[in-house]
Amino acid sequence: MEFHILTLFPEMIEQGLNTSIIGKAIEKECISLNTYNIRDYTTNKHKKVDDYTYGGGAGMLMQAQPVYDAYLAVKNSMPETFKPRVIYLCPQGVPFCQNLARELSKEESLVLICGHYEGIDERVLEEIVTDYVSLGDYVLTGGELAAMVVVDAVSRLVPGVLNNEDSAVTESFHNHLLEYPQYSRPEEWRGKKVPEVLMSGNHKKIEEWRFHQSLERTKHFRPDLYEKYLKEHKK
Ligand code: ADE
Repeated sequence: MEFHILTLFPEMIEQGLNTSIIGKAIEKECISLNTYNIRDYTTNKHKKVDDYTYGGGAGMLMQAQPVYDAYLAVKNSMPETFKPRVIYLCPQGVPFCQNLARELSKEESLVLICGHYEGIDERVLEEIVTDYVSLGDYVLTGGELAAMVVVDAVSRLVPGVLNNEDSAVTESFHNHLLEYPQYSRPEEWRGKKVPEVLMSGNHKKIEEWRFHQSLERTKHFRPDLYEKYLKEHKK
C-alpha cells in the first residue's frame, strides 16, 4: 500500500509515522510513505501558497494552483490509467470509522491532502478529491494529524503490518461492539484481582464473559453503537 501525502509540513508526517509499528511496516516495505511539500509546487516567486478569500471573512485560503500541481506530480508517477482515491481531510467530511479504514486498506494507493488556514480553494477540490473525510466534530489547525490517524488505522489492516493477524479481527468495532477488558501479570495488583473466569482455562466461559463485557461496555460508553448492534443482531 502506497500513501502519498500532500502537505505544507512533511516533516510532521514523517516524524510522526516513522516509529513503532508503522515505522517497521515502512522498513518491511508493507507500506510506503511519500510526502510532497505543497510549497515546492507554487509558481509564486515568494513561495506563497495562500491568499485572501473572495467575499471576505477571517483568515487565508490555500490556493488551487500549488495543490493541483502537487497532485499532478503524484498522479504522473502512477500508470496513466490508474485513478487513485484522493482523500481531503476536513471537518466537513464523512466521519472516519473502522469500516472506512477497512475499505481503504484494500486500495493499492491513497493520496491524502492536508489543508491549512481556512481550507483550500473549492475549485481544486472539485477537480481532484474523491473522498472528504473528517476525524470528528472539532476543528484542528491542519489536516496533518488527521492524515496520520488515517494512515495508522489503514496500515494496521494491511497484511503483514501486524504480527498477530488475529488482533485486527477481535478488536473494538468488530460487530459494532467495543473490546472487552484485558489483564496481564500479576494476578493481583493494589488489591485488585484478575477476574476469576480468565484463570479458569474454560475457553467457552471466557468467551461468554468477554462477550458480556463487550455488550455492557458498549451499552455504557456508546449507546449509539449498541443500538446498531441490536438492530443487526435481533432480526
Ligand atoms: N482538519 C481540520 N479539522 C479536521 C477534522 N476534524 N478532521 C479532519 N481534518 C481536519
